Amino acid sequence: MTEKFMKESRRHTVVIGNWKMHKTIAEAKSYVSALALFSNHCRVHIGLAVPFTMILTAAEVARGSPISIGAQNVSPFDNGPFTGEISSQMLKDAGASFVILGHSERRRLFLEDDEVINKKLKKVLAEGMRAVVCVGETLSERESGKTEIVLLRQLEGCFQGIKKEQMSDVIIAYEPVWAIGTGVVATIDIVKTVHRLCRQVIARQFGESIAEAIVIQYGGSVNPENAVDLLASQDVDGFLVGTSSLSLESFCEILKNSSA
Ligand code: PGA
Repeated sequence: MTEKFMKESRRHTVVIGNWKMHKTIAEAKSYVSALALFSNHCRVHIGLAVPFTMILTAAEVARGSPISIGAQNVSPFDNGPFTGEISSQMLKDAGASFVILGHSERRRLFLEDDEVINKKLKKVLAEGMRAVVCVGETLSERESGKTEIVLLRQLEGCFQGIKKEQMSDVIIAYEPVWAIGTGVVATIDIVKTVHRLCRQVIARQFGESIAEAIVIQYGGSVNPENAVDLLASQDVDGFLVGTSSLSLESFCEILKNSSA
């Protein structure tokens, strides 16, 4: 399971659906089994970040297919007296092979900062799973010219103390907060500029070869139509897809358009 994507997928296209707090176990079962059939025709690496309650079922249904199943959050602690938390070990045990970290909804609504994201990242990597680390500026940060500073702070904070060799298990997702769930997609120019900035920051922290190899996804109102243009930029290595991943048809359409 954990070998399905990312390990051999440096700068290959990785498309991950983020279901957020949607769907039932029965819906997950039929979605994943249909996607598994479709996925054999895709040339991209596919991930689905499902709610905790569906990880086990989704991973069982996805077994033998090229789909990786992941989680959308994890505890910064190891197993212990932490009521309501779910550890990296538990996620892996349930069949997750990757975890989304630092999504802007978690930063904004659950007050996660770079320090806690960094703690979670260390747990995920220590457990042998991959991490999709989300970064991105708000509209007011962009409008006040703070995009670069914000991204620098997020990247340096999230990757504090991470070893070079661990970075091969990390994906960065650039998700401008103003583009998430709004239908407003970032312009190609913005995406290019920020993806290059991310690579520069990673190069400074971990060296050129790691910066060159790391997969940087774009996320924020990706749909089957805009996916083609976004992916035409060599700086974009795939997508983190929210709304458009909820419908199997539109997610498959994105996968198809990303495989072209
Ligand atoms: P969206 O969400 O595709 O609905 O904009 C993206 C995300 O939150 O990862």
